[in-house]
Amino acid sequence: MSHTHAAPPPAGPDTNAALAERALKVMTPNYRPAPLVFARGEGPWLWTVDGDRYLDFAAGIAVCALGHGHPDLARALAAQSRDLIHVSNLWMNQPGIELHERLVALSFADRVYFGNSGAEANEAALKIARRYMRLVRGEDRFEIISTTHSFHGRTWAAISATGQPKYHEGFAPLVPGFVHVPYGGLEAMAAAIGPQTCAILVEPIQGEGGVIVPPAGYLQGLRSLCDAHGILLIFDEVQTGVGRTGEWFAYQHEGVAPDIMTLAKGLGGGVPIGAMCVTEAVSQGFAPGAHASTFGGNALASRAGLTVLDVIERDGLRARAQALGERLRAGLQALVDTHEGCLEARGRGLLCGLQVSDAVDRAAVVAAARDRGLLLTLAGADVIRFAPPLIIGEAHVDLALDILRDSLAAVAKEVP
Ligand SMILES: Cc1ncc(COP(=O)(O)O)c(C=O)c1O
Repeated sequence: MSHTHAAPPPAGPDTNAALAERALKVMTPNYRPAPLVFARGEGPWLWTVDGDRYLDFAAGIAVCALGHGHPDLARALAAQSRDLIHVSNLWMNQPGIELHERLVALSFADRVYFGNSGAEANEAALKIARRYMRLVRGEDRFEIISTTHSFHGRTWAAISATGQPKYHEGFAPLVPGFVHVPYGGLEAMAAAIGPQTCAILVEPIQGEGGVIVPPAGYLQGLRSLCDAHGILLIFDEVQTGVGRTGEWFAYQHEGVAPDIMTLAKGLGGGVPIGAMCVTEAVSQGFAPGAHASTFGGNALASRAGLTVLDVIERDGLRARAQALGERLRAGLQALVDTHEGCLEARGRGLLCGLQVSDAVDRAAVVAAARDRGLLLTLAGADVIRFAPPLIIGEAHVDLALDILRDSLAAVAKEVP
């Protein structure tokens, strides 16, 4: 006999508080969302079901590159959904073909595979790397070297690659064949390479780890190591890709190309899509049938990707990310210069972080900002992250900095 609940909960008023209470009863407990239920957005602004307005410097965790309710994206998705949403990879669709072509044209890659998330893109990258080494190159190399404080997603291989033990807790045994070395250092990386090494996997800037920008020359050094040892270089650009750092892809700041790159987050402007971009040679690791995704590259998600790329290009959003990122970092630097608890301002383009000392309750600062109408996220152990939509203007940056300053002051006052 199947177990069912007698009746759905009585419909109450759809207020923010009532909906938030209902949500917490039925969501699996892995999420601990702040009690804000959003109903709509426009540009960098969000409104709750109660009509309260927030300035969104989280952008759905570095996702909503065009902000909310972007007219071009809305129009394109409406039209695409009338024409065609999905057919699967047993057949083809035109937006899907065009998005493959666009990413090939914009990047080092010759071929592209689509999934639905960052973790899936990384899963594909790890699988193609191992399969390429084994079946194409005929070498028994399976070990992936990634870095401490990295974040690559929540599927089993992705957490195995992720160099943060808190994401492993309770999930052992992890996928074998992953080792971790400190981020930013070439010596430790060189020392970790052995006869079984298949690939190095790094984020060009560590996002979840705390917006950590590696020393200049690091990516170049990794490329040289990979070339010298005949192993593959994988850049996880799930957070840094698609204009966020001021270039299409963060590797372009350093003029160094990987063999494989993963994308997700910003690519669909909020519509789920992930991409694994790869050279012609390494693409041969995926023979027909080797890997697949039912939804990957469907017409709706591909249309979203094409529209996001079009708008970023048309509206000069990469240059804007660069300029506004500098303005934001200058404001954060001013906080570092004047507030004892603010230690370092860092980042690139519109992926910025403010490192805050243990003396300051960082979660309280984020909560205080929220109370004042600004959405922020934490990254790593001690960093407040700023990843606003790429369509923001100077006034939004200045307002965010004002609210942050007030929030820091309010939290400092609470300390006895
Ligand atoms: C660098 C990086 N890789 C992978 C992921 C995982 O992406 P998703 O949550 O879409 O699976 C994230 C998400 O934060 C990320 O920042």
